[in-house]
Amino acid sequence: MKTRREFIGHVGIAAGAAALGLGSARRAAARPDRGGDARPAAGDHPAPSHSPGQQGMSILILGGTGFIGPHVVRHALDRGHEITLFNRGRTNTHLFPEVEKLVGDRNSDLTALEGRRWDAVLDNSGYTPHQVGLSVDLLKGATDQYLFTSTRAVYTDFTASVMDEDAPIGPTGLPESEWTAYGPAKVLAERAVEEGFGARTLIVRPPVIVGPGDRSDRFTYWPGRIDAGGDVLVQGDPTDPVQFIDVRDLSEFYIHLLEQQTVGIFNSTGPGAPLSAAELVYGIRAITSSAVSFTWVDWDFLAERGQMPQQQLPFWQPPRGRYLNYGRIDSSRGIAAGLTFRPLAVIAKDTLDWHRSREAGGEFQLRTGLDRATEARLLAEWREAGG
Ligand SMILES: NC(=O)c1ccc[n+]([C@@H]2O[C@H](COP(=O)([O-])OP(=O)(O)OC[C@H]3O[C@@H](n4cnc5c(N)ncnc54)[C@H](OP(=O)(O)O)[C@@H]3O)[C@@H](O)[C@H]2O)c1
Repeated sequence: MKTRREFIGHVGIAAGAAALGLGSARRAAARPDRGGDARPAAGDHPAPSHSPGQQGMSILILGGTGFIGPHVVRHALDRGHEITLFNRGRTNTHLFPEVEKLVGDRNSDLTALEGRRWDAVLDNSGYTPHQVGLSVDLLKGATDQYLFTSTRAVYTDFTASVMDEDAPIGPTGLPESEWTAYGPAKVLAERAVEEGFGARTLIVRPPVIVGPGDRSDRFTYWPGRIDAGGDVLVQGDPTDPVQFIDVRDLSEFYIHLLEQQTVGIFNSTGPGAPLSAAELVYGIRAITSSAVSFTWVDWDFLAERGQMPQQQLPFWQPPRGRYLNYGRIDSSRGIAAGLTFRPLAVIAKDTLDWHRSREAGGEFQLRTGLDRATEARLLAEWREAGG
């Protein structure tokens, strides 16, 4: 444990480094509680804090009504915090009638936020440096903490031997003026947060976020398909590494970070121990009583037939080339700061229940995954090829 003097020195160094754009600013640290004790740098001390943290905080959420947002709002309300939402008033407007809602467009109109103050801000809806620059400029003097939801996609090259938060981010060989794709734009958005908040920077980089309410269907496809039974095509090799985060685990981590006044940059990949593709599908099978078998089909065989993992089957990647360690992101810093993971069986069961309720609700089309006719055709071709 650092003394208060050592701690203040550490934060001061981090602030100076941030101002200079130095890598050491990316090291996780924690601020002293208001009027309380110094707390350790999250990157230096593996044991999570069990102190209760700040109670009854006022929290502004930029977004809040999409997928992650509602889970965070519910958890924050359960924890006794006071929530304000800021969005355009278009998505899921029926949610949270008891919560204060401010209306505006973060691309151009933040007037509803002017003259206000919050203990913490959670930025869930920032994708570009323009958007994030606007909100950071306005809110850096109006809040103690600003948690920015970034993404694993800031690492465009997943070949570092340790894929922790210090692994290189952003594309190489492309001028920053062309960093407009999702991951590169998030790198620039992260920079806007660091420039505005310096040593107070708090950024989380989730992988694919799964669980009830995930309309991307990247994970949901698997519980749904496995529960349907029969011969299931699974891409790649049974040993391929798979990572994801349940939306409720992420939400709980967010509120924990704010309550603990943590600062730093955190990966947030689960599960807590390495998981192979075989463990994933057999783990999901354990929650159904369907008669099911798995046929593993080579990545290249699928790619040659136009079934690219980023499109039809995007939940994990072949562990080679620039995706070598895509499924091996190191989240030990986040775990030390309090990130925890539900068991796969719980995530799969809850997601399947949600998916079934969605199907029961009427017309419904999965957004990702193979349709059954394509799957059957590919399985037949694979067998014909001797697979
Ligand atoms: N899903 C994943 O697997 C995944 C993985 C990694 C990171 N992420 C990150 O997660 C975040 C998105 O999560 P989410 O959609 O679940 O968030 P959310 O907070 O639940 O929903 C998005 C919110 O943004 C609001 N919004 C959209 N455009 C806006 C604008 N121009 N001005 C003001 N408000 C606006 C929407 O409301 P209105 O439409 O009413 O404005 C909505 O409330 C993103 O930062 C994304 O990069 C997601």
